Amino acid sequence: MFIGVVKKVTHQECINCGAKYGINEIVYFCKKCGDLLEVKYDFTQLAKKLEESNWQDVPLSLWRYKDFMPIKDVSKIVSLNEGGTGLHSCHKLGKKLGLLQLYVKNEGENPTGSFKDRGMTVGVSKANELGAKNVICASTGNTSASLSAYAAKAGMRCTVLIPSGKIAYGKLSQAMIYGAKVFQVRGNFDQSLDMVLKLSEKHSSIYLLNSINPFRVEGQKSLGFEICDQLDGEAPDRIVVPVGNAGNISAIWKGFTEYHKLGFIRKLPKMTGIQAAGSAPVAQMIKSGSDEMVPVKAPETVATAIRIGAPVSWKKAVNAIRNSGGTAETVTDEEILAAQKLLARDEGIFVEPASASSIAGLIKLVNSGVIGKDERVVCVTTGHGLKDPDTAVKMSEKPVEIDAEMKAIEDALGLNRQASIVAGEAK
Ligand code: F0G
Repeated sequence: MFIGVVKKVTHQECINCGAKYGINEIVYFCKKCGDLLEVKYDFTQLAKKLEESNWQDVPLSLWRYKDFMPIKDVSKIVSLNEGGTGLHSCHKLGKKLGLLQLYVKNEGENPTGSFKDRGMTVGVSKANELGAKNVICASTGNTSASLSAYAAKAGMRCTVLIPSGKIAYGKLSQAMIYGAKVFQVRGNFDQSLDMVLKLSEKHSSIYLLNSINPFRVEGQKSLGFEICDQLDGEAPDRIVVPVGNAGNISAIWKGFTEYHKLGFIRKLPKMTGIQAAGSAPVAQMIKSGSDEMVPVKAPETVATAIRIGAPVSWKKAVNAIRNSGGTAETVTDEEILAAQKLLARDEGIFVEPASASSIAGLIKLVNSGVIGKDERVVCVTTGHGLKDPDTAVKMSEKPVEIDAEMKAIEDALGLNRQASIVAGEAK
């Protein structure tokens, strides 16, 4: 079954030299200049398609936006019900910071616990359309967890490369139980990515699903659509996003610009990228005004998901930040962990450290006056806290060991003391 006869998706295009590639061509970098590619649409045809469709009646979810996606044959869609995540109004945290309108878009509510599922449902559906049987990625954890799940659902063989000993256990357990072939590379993420890039270029039967794959990014742009729809057709003033390999901030920006082009929103938000201080090449570019990405050779941070020294999508991210009038900031591990605790304790939202970097960045930028108190801000929290329980346990108070007796717990809670005070007062 086909979505329609109109050709709303036209081609893939190099962001640098404009070279065009067919929509079913397997190509990850421009063959002419080596730069990144993106999927292009005919917006007149897309608008027509949307007018004929009942998409706005479909409940919030990624596939509500199927008309905006580069999938032709809907029978090939591989879905685990992604998207439709909560946009949580955070009054308590907002009040502490003096912000009137603070929201958290909690991507940990996706099927495998991170925003990666938005990209994977589209990327693996495209792989399915192309007849791919083998999929691969390099990952700091979440990408591998997500790809493994979608590959399992699609019946594809999945290979994942992760940096040895440096990923959170929750994520590793996901890739393992979903049945992926897991390789732990003696090296970092950047080296692992380099390996899968070379492998998939050499062996065309292996389909690469890192975020340089432009179809994956298409799924992730739905995050921008959802935020606007949850704010009743308005973009917020600012989006704050953790940045690692830099695909997500680029994808969200693409979503906002497409909604804007189609007339669904009046203005665009300021894209604000947050990186961990120990791995912040994109933030350094923004701060220094440079056009050159200088890789960090030995990236280090407690936020292992964004422990990336040479982000592959840096150019798209820098363009998004600059074209939107946004900014970038770095945060220390201490600031990240403090923000993680604050969000959990004030708002009941448990996120992994990389996700908390958006909150840590928000705090820093509000305190320095870069983010105005009258701004409507959405922080994206990218992954669930249970992905990395070890860090959460390490930074919280230890459980109190007690005997299995009522008195023991009453003593520990100070209830006997209170009772005797009340009894004393009554005399
Ligand atoms: N937050 C989390 C929880 C992540 O897992 C990632 C990336 C990011 C933020 C950054 O997003 O790379 O699009 O800028 N994780 C990748 C992975 C690299 O392999 O799971 P980005």
